[in-house]
Amino acid sequence: MSPYQLTRTLPEDATGAALRADVLHGLTSAPKTLPPKWFYDARGSELFDEITALPEYYPTRAEREILLSRSREIAEATGARTLVELGSGSSDKTRHLLDDLPDLETYIPVDVSESALRGAAEALGAERPGLRIHALIADFTLGLTLPDSPGPRLAAFLGGTIGNLLPAERATFLASVRELLRPGDMLLLGTDLVKDESVLVAAYDDAAGVTAAFDKNVLSVVNRELGADFDPDAFEHVALWDAHHEWIEMRLRATAAQTVKIPALDLAVEFEAGEELRTEISAKFREEGVRAELAGAGLRMTHWWTDAQGRFALSLSRVD
Ligand code: SAH
Ligand code: AVI
Repeated sequence: MSPYQLTRTLPEDATGAALRADVLHGLTSAPKTLPPKWFYDARGSELFDEITALPEYYPTRAEREILLSRSREIAEATGARTLVELGSGSSDKTRHLLDDLPDLETYIPVDVSESALRGAAEALGAERPGLRIHALIADFTLGLTLPDSPGPRLAAFLGGTIGNLLPAERATFLASVRELLRPGDMLLLGTDLVKDESVLVAAYDDAAGVTAAFDKNVLSVVNRELGADFDPDAFEHVALWDAHHEWIEMRLRATAAQTVKIPALDLAVEFEAGEELRTEISAKFREEGVRAELAGAGLRMTHWWTDAQGRFALSLSRVD
């Protein structure tokens, strides 16, 4: 018997149709954009895991430090019997939580990356035979329907992935998370914090070029899925700090004027020399802003923890 259950909650071609719609919209807009969820094919998920081990990329280590020191408090505050994790990826840090939640019966990892989900569910199923694992291939921005599972529920959204959503998208997303929860249920949210620009830019433009490869991977996804002829070598990776919005922006800059054909969309896209395509924002937060965004969705922040260097925060919030 498989040690885990896997459900695809989207119809078979929903991913293809969504990619076509996003690429058509994003590459015919000014400035050009692509949503970051398309980074994460199997290669993109591997590259993200490599990023988490880079010396410059502190968020994963900082969040792990908080989880290691606070998971017992999280267990006591939540009494969770079900853990729903959005954007779970490799579920690597989640192990610290799973280890310390004594009443946990069901783990529901949710991700768009089938390869990451299968890898994580396979490994966890073998390590924890008593845990019911029901993995969902789903887009967490589209509203989720969860399998039946016992309460109290703890929803977790780690890594700072909430920062990859624009402010209006975050409000919609948090409201939809609130809908998954009942009174007494909680949300554990990881948020990267505003800090010195040089530290932030280095984290998104590492010396080994792994983040550049991750950024360019979205072009390979569009090539493979839509038959496009992007030349990743004709773009350079750019990471810059937008001090007004307090977010990092990742962009791909065309090194020369070029035309990219996208047969699946019957589209030819012109890039001027130096033109930039925005591929991701990664917003950085302050405590009061996080508290207010949670409150706006009907979630009352009860705990706020940071790592010793104050780089990253985990918050717990409750549905009253
Ligand atoms: N939580 C992990 C992984 C973070 S990487 C950590 O903290 O290290 C972000 C993860 O979110 C990736 O696995 C990616 O596939 C997933 N993801 C991104 N956008 C998504 C979306 N719209 N719906 C579901 N999963 C998404
Ligand atoms: C998944 N997310 C929180 C990462 C971040 O830091 O915004 C994605 C990433 N982009 C570049 N490096 C890592």
